[in-house]
Amino acid sequence: MKRYNVAVVGAGMVGKKMVEVLIERNFPYKDIKVLATREREEVIAGKKLKVEKTDINSFNDIDIAFFAGTEGEKGASKLFGWEAVKKGAIVIDNGGDFRMDERVPLVIPEVNPHHLKQHQGFIANPNCSTIIMLMAVFPIHKEYGVRRIIASTYQAVSGTGKEAVDELETQVRSYVDGTEIKSSVYPYPIAFNVIPEIGGLSDEFPCYYSEEVKMIKETQKILQTKNIKISATCVRVPVFNGHSEVITLECEKPVNAEKIRKILASSQGIKVIDEPEKSGYPVPLNVSGKDEVYVGRIRKSHTFENAIDMWVVGDNIRKGAALNAVQIAEQMIKMGLL
Ligand SMILES: NC(=O)c1ccc[n+]([C@@H]2O[C@H](COP(=O)([O-])OP(=O)(O)OC[C@H]3O[C@@H](n4cnc5c(N)ncnc54)[C@H](OP(=O)(O)O)[C@@H]3O)[C@@H](O)[C@H]2O)c1
Repeated sequence: MKRYNVAVVGAGMVGKKMVEVLIERNFPYKDIKVLATREREEVIAGKKLKVEKTDINSFNDIDIAFFAGTEGEKGASKLFGWEAVKKGAIVIDNGGDFRMDERVPLVIPEVNPHHLKQHQGFIANPNCSTIIMLMAVFPIHKEYGVRRIIASTYQAVSGTGKEAVDELETQVRSYVDGTEIKSSVYPYPIAFNVIPEIGGLSDEFPCYYSEEVKMIKETQKILQTKNIKISATCVRVPVFNGHSEVITLECEKPVNAEKIRKILASSQGIKVIDEPEKSGYPVPLNVSGKDEVYVGRIRKSHTFENAIDMWVVGDNIRKGAALNAVQIAEQMIKMGLL
């Protein structure tokens, strides 16, 4: 079997998880090089690993470069992404810098693996909320033709990064100790609170925040249609890891909740837990650390004709980021593209 020289750019929550996922899935790597803004040693996947400072020569002889760096002009993808492609690497990027770029396929392997055929060396992972939503929506779309999606999210602090995880923990401790609760990551304390603001305000969609716009635009790109009407409200909640979403779908054909349960239960990467009489539904504490996206509370909605309501939970760092990126590489190997 061919083995690949792999680079992981970023040693934050997603980059570290990527190294773990590559090892646990027996990805056919020859070597994994971890890159960040400065040289040091870090414990990653239970081992002390060397982290190297990223520069353009870091990508000499690299076959696959997974990018999990900070977004924006000074971020790794903008500085080094296309340069790594020029050096011959296939880049799989977790961030939002190039998701809507026409050259870049935006891929969830269970949904649109065929888009990989058009790749130009650079592939993007969708946003975590989009991945988790579409894993559950796509199998229903194939059968019933979805024409409207209304999504409300309950997003964990790990989606913001390590400093947000630390802030939630510190705020809980301050509350218990009766000391002052200080906030720096979010505009309000996140402990014992919910905050309906994720990302910056959008110019294109007035009064929407950017995470909500990502769910709309990325879905249209992945499903290659502008005919599905989408509305999203994204909310940060005091959960350490695992995003939850309430999703209402309006479909073209009459829906049957029992049949949808069966369709989802037999779909790759999905698990159904739906026994409401026994409090049987997924919760982030149980889904954190799992690869699959979990669905429950599947029921006919009485708000529209042909509509269904459901509750979807996924690990935002795994399927929402690191795992999906590694699966893209696995899919490319399967398709003979790597
Ligand atoms: N967290 C999630 O749920 C999630 C989900 C989907 C996508 N993403 C995306 O994945 C990316 C990483 O997220 P994260 O939560 O892991 O972030 P993070 O914890 O803040 O880590 C960012 C990493 O990027 C490195 N970095 C920043 N600028 C760099 C540069 N110019 N060159 C090389 N390395 C650079 C940092 O290096 P140092 O360690 O040296 O500072 C750090 O290791 C982001 O684009 C994020 O939007 C995150």
